[in-house]
Amino acid sequence: GTAQIGVTGLAVMGRNLARNLAHHGYAVAVHNRSPERTRKLVAEHGTEGTFVPSESLEDFVASLERPRAVIVMVKAGAPTDAVIDELVPLLEAGDIVVDAGNAHYADTRRREERLREVGLHFVGTGVSGGEEGALRGPSIMPGGSAESYAKLGPIFESIAARVDDTPCCVHVGPDGAGHFVKMVHNGIEYADMQLIAEAYDLLRAGLSASPAEIAEIFRDWNSTDLESFLIEITAEVLAHTDANTGKAFVDVVVDQAEQKGTGRWTVQSALDLGIPITGIAEATFARSLSGHADQRAVARRTFADAAGDPDWRIDDRDGFIEDVRKALFASKIVAYAQGFDHIQAGSLEYDWTIDRGAVATIWRGGCIIRARFLDRIREAYDEQPDLKSLLVAPYFAKAVTDGVPSWRRVVADAARVGVPTPAFSSSLAYFDALRTERLPAALIQGLRDNFGAHTYRRVDADGAFHTEWAGDRTESPA
Ligand code: 6PG
Repeated sequence: GTAQIGVTGLAVMGRNLARNLAHHGYAVAVHNRSPERTRKLVAEHGTEGTFVPSESLEDFVASLERPRAVIVMVKAGAPTDAVIDELVPLLEAGDIVVDAGNAHYADTRRREERLREVGLHFVGTGVSGGEEGALRGPSIMPGGSAESYAKLGPIFESIAARVDDTPCCVHVGPDGAGHFVKMVHNGIEYADMQLIAEAYDLLRAGLSASPAEIAEIFRDWNSTDLESFLIEITAEVLAHTDANTGKAFVDVVVDQAEQKGTGRWTVQSALDLGIPITGIAEATFARSLSGHADQRAVARRTFADAAGDPDWRIDDRDGFIEDVRKALFASKIVAYAQGFDHIQAGSLEYDWTIDRGAVATIWRGGCIIRARFLDRIREAYDEQPDLKSLLVAPYFAKAVTDGVPSWRRVVADAARVGVPTPAFSSSLAYFDALRTERLPAALIQGLRDNFGAHTYRRVDADGAFHTEWAGDRTESPA
């Protein structure tokens, strides 16, 4: 075989990855279960580079130079296992199977172990940036063995997005590390979007502004610390007018947010690891809540008059906009701080030794959460690799301290007038809990000891203690 790399699964992501590889001079073997897609790719894009099409998986494998590198780009779950099952007997020791879909990291760990036993490398790789990213330069988060990265690294780094001439691709760590980091990326993506949506909702309610006017505000924000892809496309979506009705596009879209599952996985994993990713969790629950149309309908009827201040109007327009911007930025910092804590916890749990600064570096371009402030996150971890929380790194500590009065005003206003801001509010609560001297967790310990003899620790002595709550209330070491 002569092709340097192969792609099987030529739906839009696979097709665009294959084209991106061809644009960078690689001879790309291409295959799809139904051959129409393969033919279509070659017919429409065959002149963009060297494609080596095959209609059977056998021919596809045979068309690859050794050691072979095969990118599998099919639906996560059973379809991925089915393709791997078909591929494995056709491959030889040292060959590399790359899963570039949104797989669950636990599946990736299982598959990596299975393929390792038969001498194959399995590389679960996060790829972010949607269709455009896959074609023009995504952020790439490969896991798997260092040996496999020796072959894949140069290829992936050449097709990845670049920022300051640094490719947005790094070997994240062994087995499932790449997919784990991609999962947290998606969780942060959920939090980012929920925070943006809450900011929009507040601006709309407080200013009685049109979506097009709010689009202008987001456009302005995109030249501040908030500069990011999601803020940029928020302006674009808000400014869009529906051709059929002439109404604002956001006003003709059903207000029920869907999800394919990566946000849910992030929250499930964080619960298991004991990491409070409250921003991501609220964002995920906010999507579920929006989808419960029947409950929303009965609640709307039952509580028709519950709004705290239905005629809420802001007098100081510019001051309010700046308050919302600062609250958004502070809440966003919390979401990223939590996400990077989650990465650290996963890294310790699975011995991945993930470099968080490197993760921030490859998220600066190509991916959905790309943002100016990822440079600051990279700097923070470069200066202090064992940083206890991103919140306390100098740049972020200053931004949060500066934003606190605005943050409190916005969350208090929202509560007073009845605009739901789960992510803004819970991020502020997280911040306050983290910086508080004495938490009421002490009372929870007392209650646990009272009803279940679960014991507690004292502030002034080592060891665990129990009080005889039902008896004479004497205390004894547990
Ligand atoms: C990316 C995106 C991508 C996915 C979205 C949608 O990084 O390019 O994250 O992987 O399309 O996350 O996910 P939901 O359908 O769950 O919103």
